Amino acid sequence: MLVNQINEDQYDQAGQKDRDYVWHHMLQHQPFEQKDPMVIVEGKGMRLKDATGKEYLDAVSGGVWTVNVGYGRESIARAVYEQLVKMCYFANTAGNIPAADFAEKLLEKMPGMGRVYFSNSGSEANEKVFKMVRQLAHLKHGGKKNKIIFRERDYHGTTLGALSATGQFERKNQYGPFVEGFVEFPHCCCYRCAFGKEYGSCDIDCAQALESKILEEGPDTVGALILEPITAGGGVIPPVAEYFPIIQEICRKYDVILHLDEVVCGLGRTGKWFGYQHYDVKPDAITMAKGIASGYAAISCTVTTEDMFTQFKADPSDRMHYFRDISTYAGCTAGPAAALENLRIIKEENLLQNAKDTGDYLMDQLLDLKEKHQIIGDVRGKGLFAGFELVKDRESKTPVEEAVPIKIAAECLNQGVMISRTNRSFPLYNNTIVLSPALICGKDEIDEIISAIDKALELST
Ligand SMILES: Cc1ncc(COP(=O)(O)O)c(C=O)c1O
Repeated sequence: MLVNQINEDQYDQAGQKDRDYVWHHMLQHQPFEQKDPMVIVEGKGMRLKDATGKEYLDAVSGGVWTVNVGYGRESIARAVYEQLVKMCYFANTAGNIPAADFAEKLLEKMPGMGRVYFSNSGSEANEKVFKMVRQLAHLKHGGKKNKIIFRERDYHGTTLGALSATGQFERKNQYGPFVEGFVEFPHCCCYRCAFGKEYGSCDIDCAQALESKILEEGPDTVGALILEPITAGGGVIPPVAEYFPIIQEICRKYDVILHLDEVVCGLGRTGKWFGYQHYDVKPDAITMAKGIASGYAAISCTVTTEDMFTQFKADPSDRMHYFRDISTYAGCTAGPAAALENLRIIKEENLLQNAKDTGDYLMDQLLDLKEKHQIIGDVRGKGLFAGFELVKDRESKTPVEEAVPIKIAAECLNQGVMISRTNRSFPLYNNTIVLSPALICGKDEIDEIISAIDKALELST
């Protein structure tokens, strides 16, 4: 079924070599003194094969919601190859053709936005906005309006600035001290309302809390707010429809830049091009990475309004009055070449509609599972982006111990289905199983995923 471009000897040696030389992300390595880590060797569509020959259905798009158009896309590989042979790199101080073409096509999908700034990762794309906010504070507000508000449970990246803006205690634990001027406000998860209220009889207190936080800090000190449109690694939390209009109004009132981090939702995951497009909101800055090129090349984008861009060219007589930032690899043309072809595929294969339709089917199946398994407390999501919380009992909503989702994910893996879970994010609440299959996913694959989870729940609880 899968293409085979590597010889068997390489497969045999892969585990041992990996054990001897590689330091993996997010893993405690002690167990690898007894066993090999998983080494992935082939991929096609939503299927993967490891070095031992075991095959998997990938329900998490490369582990971290990235491979949106699926594995083995020859047209993307070819587009990257042809571009690299023609012109592989020049620093982004100059232009290149795929970057300009991609920026044009991307902005067509984002009415109201005006400029694209390229870099290499989601964290970096976010850092760019933090720097823009801080520089604008200097250019316009005597340096004072430099604080950045972030939300409990959101994740914004691995670099120290992005981690400072992250609302997940366990991700940050032991990596401080953090960057100054980042301030947290409450999450928007109705199931675990931070204000002890119920949706329908509340004032959307989670959104109103932004105003209290701005007033507490001092409006003349707050420059920006960063939010995930739908919290991803913090537990898959789509806000209610009223949330963003309130947030928007408060940001406008206090002249606070609204920065949305679309690193997970960006390009189709939720059934629209971007997560924010489900809501009535007009951000000033939008960041994206992962699904932009589906993992075929490294690329991230910081997209701003034309108005925000214009403020950086207002005074050319001032030597410091422009955005003095650079990322070397933003000049590699592999990223935009891959992104252009990725975008074409999503459009021509109608993958937004598929994400919506198959996503609705996934949600129905998860709700059926909830009927069957008392351990499922809440099911959440949008499009092909879903999560469900595991609880000890539905009345108290006490989260299960982290060992339970770990066991369920391991049991699914045994059955050849890769799922994910909230992982060392915040104390007590590492209890959410997460699904983000590729946008090409059909009902048959959903059935396979659901059946594996069903069996795993039976075996593990
Ligand atoms: C919402 C969000 N923002 C930013 C990032 C960081 O992206 P990267 O790992 O490409 O730096 C991630 C990564 O998971 C993310 O989920």
